[in-house]
Amino acid sequence: MNIMVIGGGGREHAIIRKIKESPLADHIYALPGNGGMAADAECVPIGAEDLDAIVAFAESHPVDYAIVAPDDPLVMGLADRLTEKGIPCFGPSKDAAIIEGSKAFSKELMKKYGIPTAEYEIFTDAEDAMNYVESCKIPVVVKADGLAKGKGVIIAQTREEAKDAVTSMMEDRIFGESGSCVVIEEFLEGPEVSVLSFTDGKTLIPMVSSMDHKRALDGDLGPNTGGMGTVAPNPYYTPEIDERCREEIFLPTMIAMNKEGRTFKGCLYFGLMITADGPKVIEYNCRFGDPETQVVLPLLDSDLLDIMMHVTKGTLDEAEVNFADDAACCVVMASKGYPRSYEKGCLLEIPDDLKNVYVAGARKGDDGRLYSDGGRVLGVTERGSSISEAIDKAYASVKRITFTNGFYRKDIGARALKALED
Ligand code: AMP
Ligand code: GLY
Repeated sequence: MNIMVIGGGGREHAIIRKIKESPLADHIYALPGNGGMAADAECVPIGAEDLDAIVAFAESHPVDYAIVAPDDPLVMGLADRLTEKGIPCFGPSKDAAIIEGSKAFSKELMKKYGIPTAEYEIFTDAEDAMNYVESCKIPVVVKADGLAKGKGVIIAQTREEAKDAVTSMMEDRIFGESGSCVVIEEFLEGPEVSVLSFTDGKTLIPMVSSMDHKRALDGDLGPNTGGMGTVAPNPYYTPEIDERCREEIFLPTMIAMNKEGRTFKGCLYFGLMITADGPKVIEYNCRFGDPETQVVLPLLDSDLLDIMMHVTKGTLDEAEVNFADDAACCVVMASKGYPRSYEKGCLLEIPDDLKNVYVAGARKGDDGRLYSDGGRVLGVTERGSSISEAIDKAYASVKRITFTNGFYRKDIGARALKALED
């Protein structure tokens, strides 16, 4: 089978590496991919949001199956368009991707079906939102309704910050139309857990849990980023919490989407907070997480492509989905300055025997060597029999990579280790 993977970051590289292990996979196209994955897939310079060009490419090439990884094309309806052309596709329809595409939708869904989440109000009028933040409890969380490249959430520690957030989203429209509606919600406290799941709308199979590290600097300091590293499993996700999540959150969400006529087929991502009152949903994503995928898929012992095709066909109950009892750690190497301004074009040297280095932002130079080409550049993953071993191995691999203008957090997994001790 020839497979087309949409997207070009570390997550997509991890997906491609995993589907390459499948005996079902022949040729893999990555649109656009990046120079660092050229050994694993044929990279085609078509952007993930250029839906017309993607559909035209799929029609004019022998593409048997498509995997749409990023949120934007899913929310724009790429899975529907490929399916209409007879190309089976992994990824939810536009109607179902709204679970990530509109925070107002997801909050109303959770309220209607009694799924635990933070208390909230929705505003489409800036003045009403301002009046609300005049008297609400502080800290408070202000969220742009639509997609905002992961930047649409502001945790306001003061009333002034909350007002500034409303002004910049609703009046200055720093996120464009995404800020025409905002959700203002209760600030929750507790450890965060990411759980990705496979679902075809009838069966839902959670993958191994993981922990993201969003801040740029050690000690969870500095600005928010797309994610500086991950570990799996997440020690806060105990068997008791897992049971509650399945009963109170995962299955109710799948059923709620069916009842709304928006059956979700694909990878449904639950961003959870384990509060004193139990697990609550912080966000849903309609896709694999990045960099969660870079620790979750290396622990998958089954055939990812086979599972995905079962999801598409609606026969997930027949799929074999097994995760190893091991742990994994992914350390992200980013360009100095990220998430603010940074230089590109630094030479990267990755020893050949490092098999789980996922390339997020790099290009091949004329000399055939690899150069940095983005903020997050590499995700260096290792597996171990414990979290502690996985962390040590990941950092040992990081030290063997040359990336002169790069930086990485030195404490990925430290919180997880601490949780294991407590
Ligand atoms: P999101 O883009 O929805 O994942 O939000 C980004 C981050 O903001 C989350 O990973 C949380 O760390 C934080 N966050 C979002 N909503 C809340 C909330 N209600 N209370 C506390 N933190 C939150
Ligand atoms: N790592 C968070 C996300 O993919 O949204």
